[in-house]
Amino acid sequence: MADTAARQSLHIEPSPGGVGAFVHGIDLAHDLNGNTVGVLRQALGDHGVLFFRDQDLTPDQHIAAAEQFGEINVNRFFSRLQTHDKIALVVKEPEQRGNIGGGWHTDHTYDQIPAMGSMLLARETPPRGGDTLFANMYTAYESLSDGLKETLCGLRAVHSSRHRFGASAQNRDQFKGRLGNAEAATQDAVHPVVIRHPISGRPSLYVNDAFTLRFEGWTDAESAPLLQMLYAHAAKPEHTYRFAWAEGSIAFWDNRATWHYALNDYHGARREMHRITLEGCALEA
Ligand code: SIN
Repeated sequence: MADTAARQSLHIEPSPGGVGAFVHGIDLAHDLNGNTVGVLRQALGDHGVLFFRDQDLTPDQHIAAAEQFGEINVNRFFSRLQTHDKIALVVKEPEQRGNIGGGWHTDHTYDQIPAMGSMLLARETPPRGGDTLFANMYTAYESLSDGLKETLCGLRAVHSSRHRFGASAQNRDQFKGRLGNAEAATQDAVHPVVIRHPISGRPSLYVNDAFTLRFEGWTDAESAPLLQMLYAHAAKPEHTYRFAWAEGSIAFWDNRATWHYALNDYHGARREMHRITLEGCALEA
């Protein structure tokens, strides 16, 4: 890492895709003062996900950086780093087939108070593949027709973790040793389908294929066609950006403004990511 005097100053550059921004000129181990944290928090609300390169952080420094943005949510489903239980391990070994997060989702929508976001740090990346896609839930909402926006603004949706992380979840065996505590998968929660983002104040589409079950007061069968239409719409390329990792890269995303999707295209190679998740707040329409 270059010394502080030689580094360029903090600079936020929107990604060339439909979501996110790159943050240049910052060493997260040493440069996080109150002013910088304020600037980054606002940028996170505005862009949905912030990307950082070449962050040479120890686990303690990773925790200290994350704690500047809120209280850490200790993950109850993923395995944790043995020495630091505030860090969840997102690992795929060369002999494993399933990856964690391999489909469009946003984290923790099954919680009554969903987590704000996560700071994911790449520790080991495969020689090729293993990128993560992000999608923009502000533009997903804004690009709908006025009629559908009006309908969605009057709806709430039910979210759950049981079918994903519970004892009877499909494919649980594939994740043996990587997903803990099925008994913790008891949460259901109801949130507005369109939330007002707590930082930016912008409306954001808040349903996702992994954890949303149905619209409140509708059956699963009644909900499915509209949910599927929204999922296809939100995942359109113009709302997305594909982030290619290198060791020391960080993606810091806001769950209330984005989805993400970890590509599983690197069988036979190892990928290890350290994830710290931050507590959020109740969500309002
Ligand atoms: C996740 O969904 O938290 C994992 C993302 C990734 O490994 O890229």
